[in-house]
Amino acid sequence: MIRWNTLLGFFYLVLCVGKIIRAEAITESITRYYEFNVTQHSINPDCSEHTSPVFLINGQMPGPTITANQGDIIHVLIRNKLSEVDTHHHDVAIHFHGIRQYGSNHADGVPFLTQLPIRPGQEFVQEFRVINQAGTFFYHAHVGLQEETVFGPLIVYESQAANPEILSTESSTNSTEFLPLTAGPFSYHDEHVAILSEWWHRPPIEFENFLMGSKFKFLPEADSVLINGRTMHDTRHATLAKCGGYDVMTVLPNKTYRFRVIGATTFRTLGFAIARHNLTIIEVDGELVKPYTVNQLEVAPGQRFSVLVHTDQVLDDYSIRVVRRWSDDVGRPTNGIAVLQYQQPISRLNHPSLGVGSRGVLRFKRPAMIQPPSIHPVFEKAELEAPYWIWQELEPLYGVDPTVRKPASRTIKLRSVDRHLPDGTTRWQVNGVAYTEEMGSKQQPILYNVLNKTRQLPGRYNTAHTNGYDPNLRTYPLKHFEIVDIVIQTTHMPGEPCRSHPWHTHGHSHWEIANGKGEYTEERDGKIRNINTPILKDITMIYPNVDPDLFTKDGEKVTSPVGCGWSKIRIVADNPGIWAVHCHNTPHMLMGMMVALEEAPELISRP
Ligand SMILES: *[C@@H]1O[C@H](CO)[C@@H](O)[C@H](O)[C@H]1NC(C)=O
Ligand SMILES: *[C@@H]1O[C@H](CO)[C@@H](O)[C@H](O)[C@H]1NC(C)=O
Ligand SMILES: *[C@@H]1O[C@H](CO)[C@@H](O)[C@H](O)[C@H]1NC(C)=O
Ligand SMILES: *[C@@H]1O[C@H](CO)[C@@H](O)[C@H](O)[C@H]1NC(C)=O
Ligand SMILES: *[C@@H]1O[C@H](CO)[C@@H](O)[C@H](O)[C@H]1NC(C)=O
Repeated sequence: MIRWNTLLGFFYLVLCVGKIIRAEAITESITRYYEFNVTQHSINPDCSEHTSPVFLINGQMPGPTITANQGDIIHVLIRNKLSEVDTHHHDVAIHFHGIRQYGSNHADGVPFLTQLPIRPGQEFVQEFRVINQAGTFFYHAHVGLQEETVFGPLIVYESQAANPEILSTESSTNSTEFLPLTAGPFSYHDEHVAILSEWWHRPPIEFENFLMGSKFKFLPEADSVLINGRTMHDTRHATLAKCGGYDVMTVLPNKTYRFRVIGATTFRTLGFAIARHNLTIIEVDGELVKPYTVNQLEVAPGQRFSVLVHTDQVLDDYSIRVVRRWSDDVGRPTNGIAVLQYQQPISRLNHPSLGVGSRGVLRFKRPAMIQPPSIHPVFEKAELEAPYWIWQELEPLYGVDPTVRKPASRTIKLRSVDRHLPDGTTRWQVNGVAYTEEMGSKQQPILYNVLNKTRQLPGRYNTAHTNGYDPNLRTYPLKHFEIVDIVIQTTHMPGEPCRSHPWHTHGHSHWEIANGKGEYTEERDGKIRNINTPILKDITMIYPNVDPDLFTKDGEKVTSPVGCGWSKIRIVADNPGIWAVHCHNTPHMLMGMMVALEEAPELISRP
């Protein structure tokens, strides 16, 4: 593994955003500058009757796409230009999701763990090098429900050979033939991003107050699911004058495209499919995998996939659609639609007045599409498949990492239970503790106290009775380079629904090495390794996997929460820092389903 400090000798080329760049040699790395102004806007992205005041980056949703090559430095200046100062709702912090932040814990964007939230009128710089990682990432706000609208893609190209910006300026502008892009052994003609998000017809701040308050009963489904920030809520009364319509992704026939699908959703896990096109998965969460062909993806909040799509159908418009998965009693269809549109190849020479879109597809100025194409994908029902979708089938492209076969130094079990508290609120407690921002000191982030040496160092690493939790530090301390298995256990009241939980690890990708039904016990389940070829990822879905045997005990109905599914993930503590680990269903996280790892704090580097 390349350590960050061995890369410091590289030559950096400083460059402004928007300028076309050429980087010749592998040893040349670049600093990519971005500027994010966070401001308030009223938007109506699904063309409904409803408009909400929300926060946006540079007035856009999705926010600007960050692109870089592996090894580059990303420098983001974030300005909080919101005017209100009364509550924490207007504080801002941005997390670069999936970026491991080797040696740059201070750029991880988690308020009170790694930084103070950015107050209205303030600005903050996050600068980090993308070390040993390439693929599909995104960024999102890490405060309240702001991430409903504050998010955008972050794409790291494996090398120049995968970077479409550069090749499109180099190869002949005459023709529609371009050099293929390549990433690892994969080769494709062009790429598209499909970033999925949700939109509620209520202002995010009011929604957050509802979740956290005593009126909360259950989480309402989003009114719309957006693809690249848009969809149509109701096509019946839509007029072109009023609506942006569906997002249209253009392709040429008989080519191969890489689609980067990003789950920037707040709440629901979604199925994703393109009518009449198979999807060959080649990347999950920033790691290449052996090609595996499906006709639909399951995309949990925080997850990313790259799929190869062959445009081998006749010239037409095909709908790209999403459905709800793991949704129990709500309907599966959503209004989340985009359009895959085949276009005739045309030489740019014959149309000098037309702008060239990405790599040879001419983008005509054409009316927005406010009616979906008539060709729809067919979805299978998630619940009819075994839980775990296809996760057991995927394999790392370059072989299984030997670390997954080694013994772990210990196992930490994180058992989540939702509690209805005496004050009427609902909180998810993990090992009895619901995370709040006061877990940092609320005055100074934990990281600052560590760097200023005003925080006690962890003394006890193997406190078995607390499962690794240090009640004084209110974190889970890890030793440098230990291999730690974390069992994420979900629970429910017998007879009530068991929920799915996509858990995310900051600072680390992890291997899911085992999973099972009901309640994990070390004696019975400690040796289970039922995933043959674990892949590295930064989200693992804990699937509902109920064990009916737990519903009664000695003939009596059980009245306390019982386990209803678990996954065991493994990390190597190779990245000193204060790292959040949490359910990426954001309402669950806000209600407490989060912990902080305090990893080798004595070794954390200063910014
Ligand atoms: C952000 O706001 C500043 C003024 O505060 C302005 O100079 C700058 O151009 C804005 N940047 C973007 C990307 O909109
Ligand atoms: C572009 O087309 C012109 C005219 O057909 C030709 O002379 C030239 O060589 C072409 N350039 C490239 C880079 O293919
Ligand atoms: C794609 O290629 C096939 C076989 O070469 C050809 O028959 C077909 O017409 C092509 N499709 C389009 C839309 O050009
Ligand atoms: C998708 O893959 C399946 C199974 O490999 C195959 O039977 C089917 O024809 C493919 N569909 C398309 C549209 O290529
Ligand atoms: C602690 O460190 C941070 C930055 O590392 C600094 O901004 C802060 O003022 C320091 N606080 C104290 C009390 O020294």
